[in-house]
Amino acid sequence: ADPDPLQDFCVADVSAPPLLNGFPCKPASNVTSGDFFFDGLMKEGNTANTFGVNVTAADVGSFPGLNTLGISMNRVDFARGGINPPHSHPRATETGVVMKGKLLVGFVTSGNVFYSKVLTAGQMFVIPRGLVHFQKNVGEGKALALTAFNSHLPGVEVLPLTLFASTPPIPNDVLTQAFQVEEDVVNSIRSKFAS
Ligand code: GLV
Ligand code: MN
Repeated sequence: ADPDPLQDFCVADVSAPPLLNGFPCKPASNVTSGDFFFDGLMKEGNTANTFGVNVTAADVGSFPGLNTLGISMNRVDFARGGINPPHSHPRATETGVVMKGKLLVGFVTSGNVFYSKVLTAGQMFVIPRGLVHFQKNVGEGKALALTAFNSHLPGVEVLPLTLFASTPPIPNDVLTQAFQVEEDVVNSIRSKFAS
């Protein structure tokens, strides 16, 4: 979903402030082979957290060679029973392949239709741009997926955190009215995500 590039590459100068679309290019004379290769997805992420998931991003922030090329990836590690909670990517369609384990993958359309399937190693999925989706580890052990995006910076809004852990917080009466629950329910959810 990113604009088409106007040159072969534009390795990001990540120390410079971002421009309207992406980072400025570092001078071509400083570009080396190392700019186009990335080891950051080799290691298993630490899943000892509330959701039992760890997303390691290979986007323009961590892999500056992706700048302006309209593409990026994630490594998603799941503990047993872990969930990558409902979230959306405002700037990209996502595709992915399960590398290990067994994942329930689902998304909901703008018409509130839910599509889902349980996938094992080698099977793929696609999440249309911007739609809310999740993956849940429904296997007996750990799970691993690799995901890919048509943006160098897909962005993510993780709904539980977006709604219940924003800074500053969304007023309680907005959430009680939106979800048709009492305030103690909202406070209880908030307390799980307090840092
Ligand atoms: C999975 O949904 C991911 O965003 O990597
Ligand atoms: Mn996603």
